[in-house]
Amino acid sequence: MYDYSNKTVFVSGGTSGINLGIAHAFAKAGARLVVMSRKQDKVDAAVEALKAHGGEAFGHAADVRDYAAVDAAFKDTASRFGSIDVLISGAAGNFPAPAMGISPNGFKSVVDIDLLGTFHVVRAAFPYLTKPGASVINISAPQASIPMDFQMHVCAAKAGVDMVTRVAALEWGGLGVRINSISPGPIEGTEGMNRLAPNAAAHALILNSVPLGCYGSTDDIAEAAMWLSSPLARYITGVVLPVDGGWSLGGVSAMSMGLKKAMGG
Ligand code: COA
Ligand code: NAP
Repeated sequence: MYDYSNKTVFVSGGTSGINLGIAHAFAKAGARLVVMSRKQDKVDAAVEALKAHGGEAFGHAADVRDYAAVDAAFKDTASRFGSIDVLISGAAGNFPAPAMGISPNGFKSVVDIDLLGTFHVVRAAFPYLTKPGASVINISAPQASIPMDFQMHVCAAKAGVDMVTRVAALEWGGLGVRINSISPGPIEGTEGMNRLAPNAAAHALILNSVPLGCYGSTDDIAEAAMWLSSPLARYITGVVLPVDGGWSLGGVSAMSMGLKKAMGG
């Protein structure tokens, strides 16, 4: 349905889960892929899998908290593939814990990965983005605007991510660079959901709080990313797009209260 041949797509955190699903979708549509995450073995496995679609793929082992390493990854990408047409910033960390169970370093770790890491990625990528024409997507979460028990660190970090999106949209629109957030709902089979719903009771609670009555898939998020990065979305910038089965309409809060009980809070 989409043709991304001759386009370069960079996915931070693109070695597993939702972000790897996005990378596969763009690779299937003909794009050159670059993925970046901390663990070399995950990077190597993702690159091999992405190459199976027939196009070029490359990877970098880098921690988004390390600006110099992120900057080097973008410099290298530009020297290999030229400018970057689509940038997905999706690296994130999460663990469920009540506020008093989050140490200062635990709070800092999540904020540093999700928020500072997003800033690092979009800032370091900016010189190499295709101008005009690039699409940047930050992967947010419903916690950015809806308070959720056991998620104080993630709520704070992802709220910041959406503000990075909005401010950059203001500043970069004139150069023809669009930047948006996608806010996924509960996505089946992902590390994020394994952590947030670690038992059957929590899993059922989440399922019952989604208006469409089902979990989403990594393909659901990938489809939204492909559309949002295409010319069909040329007039869209600075938005936070929920792809969540209607979860953010109220179900997140209902689930959050039950989750505390299901997890013994
Ligand atoms: N409950 C409470 N605190 C926790 C915790 C938990 N389940 N898991 C980690 N922490 C705390 C640690 O105790 C540490 O704090 P301390 O130094 O005061 O003891 C702090 O968080 C950092 O932990 P560390 O393991 O050193 O951090 P890291 O940088 O190696 O890893 C995490 C970052 C904690 C976010 C880790 O879970 C991670 O790498 N996650 C990536 C995958 C992921 O979360 N996927 C889902 C995406 S939504
Ligand atoms: P995941 O599989 O754990 O993906 C996280 C990715 O980020 C991995 O590739 C991981 O690889 C990388 N990463 C983590 N810390 C990093 C760091 N410091 N530097 C560089 N890379 C790092 O999780 P997921 O559940 O698919 O989540 C993906 C995104 O969707 C996240 O932004 C998350 O907040 C968002 N989201 C998920 C859900 C859901 O239902 N799962 C819902 C809403 C939003 P390494 O371990 O190799 O670093």
